[in-house]
Amino acid sequence: MNKNNSLIFSSEKGGAGKTAILGNVAAFTSYRDDSTVLVVDGDVTNQSTTKQLLPSLKNDKINELEQKGMFLSTEKLLMGLFDETLSAESAFSRLSQKAIPRSSLPVQSLFVLPSKGRTRFGHNLNPNAILEPMNKLNGALLDVFDHLFYDTEATSNVLKEILVAMDSTELVSIVTPENLDVEMDMLAKYENDSAIVRGIILNNVFEENISEQLTKIYDSGFPLISLIPFDMQMILATHRRALVVGDGSNVDYALRVASLNLTQQRKLDEKQIKAMFSNAESVYDTFASSTLELKRKQITSNSSNGDEKKTTLPGNPFSFISKLMNTKVSGRT
Ligand SMILES: Nc1ncnc2c1ncn2[C@@H]1O[C@H](COP(=O)(O)OP(=O)(O)O)[C@@H](O)[C@H]1O
Ligand SMILES: [Mg+2]
Repeated sequence: MNKNNSLIFSSEKGGAGKTAILGNVAAFTSYRDDSTVLVVDGDVTNQSTTKQLLPSLKNDKINELEQKGMFLSTEKLLMGLFDETLSAESAFSRLSQKAIPRSSLPVQSLFVLPSKGRTRFGHNLNPNAILEPMNKLNGALLDVFDHLFYDTEATSNVLKEILVAMDSTELVSIVTPENLDVEMDMLAKYENDSAIVRGIILNNVFEENISEQLTKIYDSGFPLISLIPFDMQMILATHRRALVVGDGSNVDYALRVASLNLTQQRKLDEKQIKAMFSNAESVYDTFASSTLELKRKQITSNSSNGDEKKTTLPGNPFSFISKLMNTKVSGRT
């Protein structure tokens, strides 16, 4: 019963930072408590999460492995459920951990269900038709993975409608100052439709003029999970398909705070919000000090022969992450 719900990273506007934040938060969450994390690339137009976390996985390879029945892309999963060539059970058995490509980040287990991109789901597809198998599948995945994150695309589509309507999912709204009003209206609407809103991550923030934005968020009653400054490093990292978490910057700590608060049902209080600009590290430390698992200095990584190997991390756990981002795909052999 202490299971986390799946988290849907959502925004109505593209370019808000969903994918960039999700990749960093997922990697850090897995690192932080040695947990198994599954990221589902639900942006079937852009496949940005797939490109970020599995840069060496090409569509040819996905097609080849899919044909052999080894794993599924988001598109194939969804269409298979619609046309009933797949059931929740058969999809789940394909999505056993071994069949999902695994990121070679130096974290315990970060898995990605890839998208092939350039897909448009037909407007005639009725979300309710596969709500039940999607619920079943999500529930089964939550038994296997400690954390489950769904990336989505900004444009509303049948997949997003299903995710929002599912049991055991919660919305994480990625909001930027320019589209705060639009996003908050949407959140209120989602909540009206009985979706659970986990909270807001305010991204691309400049310290000036923030008080009005914060007042709006307070008034809405939605929890503020983290506040992420605008930082060129984020753009550069995205460009290089690398992560910024671990670089010791304020953005890094803001992302760590997001990871902790998302998975531990916490939020920023007023005092912490101010400190996020001057010293995000101290805010992170406050949350982290109450979290035992963070004191661990070791991570476990599975070597290819299946043996468990203990790796001691260098002082900065993520300093070498970008080099390792050239991910190997380990499908079932
Ligand atoms: N805090 C930030 N500071 C600067 N650039 C950011 C920040 N967050 C995201 N970006 C950049 O904005 C662009 C769009 O982000 P992305 O995560 O792809 O948005 P989305 O998935 O919501 O469409 C990327 O180049 C990303 O690096
Ligand atoms: Mg995206």
